[in-house]
Amino acid sequence: MLETDARERVIVALDCDRTRALELADALRGHAAWLKVGMTLFYAEGPAIVRELRERGFKVFLDLKLHDIPHQVRGAAEAAARTGADLLTIHGLGAGAMMAAAREGVEAAARDAERARVIAVTVLTSMDQAALSQIGVELPVADEADRLARLAHDNGIDGVVCSPQEAARMRELLGEGALIVTPGVRPAGAALGDQSRVATPAEAIGRGASHIVVGRPITGADDPVAACDAIVTELVELA
Ligand code: C5P
Repeated sequence: MLETDARERVIVALDCDRTRALELADALRGHAAWLKVGMTLFYAEGPAIVRELRERGFKVFLDLKLHDIPHQVRGAAEAAARTGADLLTIHGLGAGAMMAAAREGVEAAARDAERARVIAVTVLTSMDQAALSQIGVELPVADEADRLARLAHDNGIDGVVCSPQEAARMRELLGEGALIVTPGVRPAGAALGDQSRVATPAEAIGRGASHIVVGRPITGADDPVAACDAIVTELVELA
């Protein structure tokens, strides 16, 4: 893989406060193309943080996992896309009309420019069979994830966020053009933290992920730039 392509595949998760987020962004300029802003940073800092990261030349994955009535999600997706975010998340459990509304929202925000992409969370990796059963879902976790991924695809959603373990299955299900974004990625030898079922960056991409989300192995490293570059090198070396 070319180095520029490899850099496009790595999304660095900024699970930290604004000061540290901007410090990391300044350091990672030219080394990472994508940064992820999650709920904690967004609810603390609002749309300004997305704009600040965009101004520094990054693409932003705004991971707010929208889930509400279609009208509200349409408006939220439009507003989120107007911050300049390039990629948004919604919950597949919101069902077809809600997902179609998210797509309409990002289209309304784009006008003639390139629209933000939207990906769906199927089953949160924190949920097991017992948790699904609590909310009345008796399908096996994998079947439920497949069902929601197909529903997302049929409603104009660009792909899914899933674990590296599900990436090959999702690629098969959704086809070549889909975005398949996988967190739970750890370079060989990195601390697992609270992640349990992990894959290396090369494994995740090899199984069909279009992008990998990497947080602490980069942001918690003594040298985040070197840690990011090492991941890019691992992908460049991938056939
Ligand atoms: O630090 P780490 O690499 O574990 O960060 C992974 C990022 O991906 C975090 O922002 C986390 O919220 C997110 N994520 C995850 N597992 C999921 C979904 C999202 O780790 N199933």
